[in-house]
Amino acid sequence: MTMTSEWLSVLPKAELHMHIDGSLQAERMLQLAKKNGIDLPYSTVEDVKAAYQFEDLQSFLDLYYLGASVLREEDDFYHLMMDYLVKCREDNIVHTEIMVEPQTYLANGIDFDVFMSGFKRAITDAKSWGISVLLILSLLKHTTEDECIAVLNMADDYSDDFVALGMASTEIGNPPEKFQRLYELGKGRGYNLQTHSGEEGAADLIWGSLETMQAMRIDHGVRCTDDPQLVEHLKKHQIPLTVCPLSNVRLRVFDKIEDHNIIDLLKEEVLVTVNSDDPAYFGGFLNDNYHALIDAFDLDKTDVLALVKNGFRASYLPESRINAFVNELDGMLGG
Ligand code: ADE
Ligand code: ZN
Repeated sequence: MTMTSEWLSVLPKAELHMHIDGSLQAERMLQLAKKNGIDLPYSTVEDVKAAYQFEDLQSFLDLYYLGASVLREEDDFYHLMMDYLVKCREDNIVHTEIMVEPQTYLANGIDFDVFMSGFKRAITDAKSWGISVLLILSLLKHTTEDECIAVLNMADDYSDDFVALGMASTEIGNPPEKFQRLYELGKGRGYNLQTHSGEEGAADLIWGSLETMQAMRIDHGVRCTDDPQLVEHLKKHQIPLTVCPLSNVRLRVFDKIEDHNIIDLLKEEVLVTVNSDDPAYFGGFLNDNYHALIDAFDLDKTDVLALVKNGFRASYLPESRINAFVNELDGMLGG
């Protein structure tokens, strides 16, 4: 491990793009499948891990939704959340904004109260370590707008628990115009607005996400570099991109980590952040994503610090807490 990599582990960090179902580790998947009597086409951890070979986003999503089908009882959701929060403690993540996708569970006949109470119990237990956790209501682009609105309405009972409305799943074929009304409604409820965009889809979908969906933060967004005017716009307005380097390589957005554009965007002063997306499936949690970038781009402490500070600056934390973290990090450069 390089000196910069070792130093990274002591820095307090934020993670802003992590799907809770994407943190379901193979051991836990098999244990819950057995407990809940769910038939999976895998019987060993090696079998599950052998399936982590993806052609593209859709081939991953098929496995991702199958994996999440093992989650049935309140305790299952507790353990899923707690497993991830334990990883946060190991990686020194002090603030995390986690995507929760109710439609996945509702489709399996699970009530909103079941998964929310499991998640919230784990978050309450972990708060004693000093971690702060915010939840993002993440809806699925492959479903209809009416279905999404129905879930937005269900989430009203939990509106204090969700800080933002987001969307994930298949972006190609499900353009921003499909969800304009949903986002108007989300805005009316006071949610921060974000969406996956420009992962596989082209730069025009990012424009649509900003203009039609009124998103203030873009998940992925790496295809912005196809349009220099868009890069300029993102820079000028400091619109955050929550970038997920290992995910982008595993899902073949880039052939290899050395081809990734996050460091070019950082140098252009676009507000890019580092995140793990679906860490159990993509070969690494947050620090692994930083380590991959440090090795591939020979990053020094100043570069790493800029990325880590961006994680806080792009968060939904109050300004005073962002400033406190940024000042603390500035004080660590010499360490
Ligand atoms: N859901 C989970 N991971 C995703 C990704 N990388 N892109 C779109 N939807 C997702
Ligand atoms: Zn994602």
